[in-house]
Amino acid sequence: MIPIKTAEEVERMKVVCRIAAEVLAALEREVAPGVNTYDLDQFARREIERRGAISACHNYRIGSQRYPSYSCISVNEEVVHGIGSLKRVIAEGDVVALDVVVSHAGYIGDNARTIRVGEVDRDVDRLVSVTEEALWAGIAVARSGKRVGDISHAIQKYVESRRLSIVREFVGHGVGASMHEEPQIPNFGRRGTGPKLRPGMALAIEPMVNLGRPEVKVLSDGWTVVTSDGFPSAHFEHTVLVTEDEPEILTLLKK
Ligand code: MF3
Ligand code: CO
Repeated sequence: MIPIKTAEEVERMKVVCRIAAEVLAALEREVAPGVNTYDLDQFARREIERRGAISACHNYRIGSQRYPSYSCISVNEEVVHGIGSLKRVIAEGDVVALDVVVSHAGYIGDNARTIRVGEVDRDVDRLVSVTEEALWAGIAVARSGKRVGDISHAIQKYVESRRLSIVREFVGHGVGASMHEEPQIPNFGRRGTGPKLRPGMALAIEPMVNLGRPEVKVLSDGWTVVTSDGFPSAHFEHTVLVTEDEPEILTLLKK
């Protein structure tokens, strides 16, 4: 069952998604050469908590493991779930994926973005651009009457036609009272397949794209996902509400 949010739930989703977006924007401004990812994560924690929210990542459980950080900060070959570390110091030329998932008044907002630190290699620059554009390609079909597979297919086609690789082991998801609700939203798939989208569904759409091969592995810390070949990866994510007409991007900050 895919939850359909009531009007009241949608209002709560708007509040928490706005907080998630504000924290992500604040965190983005802190990324600079010489800064370590532990300090960035602690900054994220403060920004979340001073808005009266809590991190949905901190203590998030998979099996017997608990996620130790407050945000996910994944540098270069790290794909997702990077843990803040005093030893991981940001350098010019890096790409840094920031993922902020926040809980407030019983609802969750989820968003991510990859930042370029100064000048980056041309290939890496293009990787980041294509990943962001692929997110928009997916959002464009998050409309009532379409199917989950239409989103998956739009993202896959956008990325693979540009000779980049889709990560398959991690997927987008419904989001609301829990971080991960139905449906799963793979970043690859066939048009016209999967559950039908309806107004009131809230979806976290999140392409993860590799410059090299698609394969990933998990480091011995039990969390950090890296590319198997060591080439860089990028990740963008928005929480999107399916409506009667245009998709509403709940984690987009209005100017
Ligand atoms: N955007 C990620 C997801 O949907 C965030 C997970 S953070 C974790 O899975 F640390 F809690 F795993
Ligand atoms: Co997510």
